[in-house]
Amino acid sequence: MTKIAVFVSGRGSNFKALHDYLSTSGSGGEIVRVVSNKVCPALEYAREIGIPYSLVAEKSKEDFIDYESLLKEFKELNVRLIVLAGFLKKIPDMFIDGFDGNIINIHPALLPAFGGKGMYGMNVHKAVFESSAKYSGATVHFVDKVYDHGKIIDQAIVDIHDVSSPEEIAARVLEQEHKLLPRVVSAILSDRVKIVNNRVVIVGESN
Ligand code: GRF
Repeated sequence: MTKIAVFVSGRGSNFKALHDYLSTSGSGGEIVRVVSNKVCPALEYAREIGIPYSLVAEKSKEDFIDYESLLKEFKELNVRLIVLAGFLKKIPDMFIDGFDGNIINIHPALLPAFGGKGMYGMNVHKAVFESSAKYSGATVHFVDKVYDHGKIIDQAIVDIHDVSSPEEIAARVLEQEHKLLPRVVSAILSDRVKIVNNRVVIVGESN
């Protein structure tokens, strides 16, 4: 089993979708740890289903682990993939270096548009709504040291010609996120994510 850690900060619906997928698909991955920067519903869900969790902070804080210790623990545990699923803090460079190329993030818009600092949650969907864009979607990308910037692994497109609120965009995008994230993780687990001509390609998937 490939060991996976999921980082969350809120509701945890992507964590749940990924966990459901991994528990039923036989894709060879297992979530062994959930990490958050704060107490949130996603941690409550981790507790309910018996996945160990940690609170992480950049500076030492009671009941929180620091990133250096977390990195050490993950190496000892043999964690191979880190999935940021609604994690709202920037990951320190040292941690990204430690897991080089093995951290992915899901973003609720079509990057490289509507990303970057401050572009999270409803802020994204409001900006998309106000721009009058006709399509939005979800993006899963590798994490590098710049917010929402690493190479894009895959995207799902959502038609929003007819929406009348940012909330409607959010609901349509979330539905796609819950399919996209398991699909990308499955491709990573089966070693089908390759770099070809400096682009990320999922081998064996037709578009
Ligand atoms: C998702 O829209 C994800 O794309 C973004 O944060 C949201 C998290 O939602 N990064 P949830 O906690 O998975 O329900």
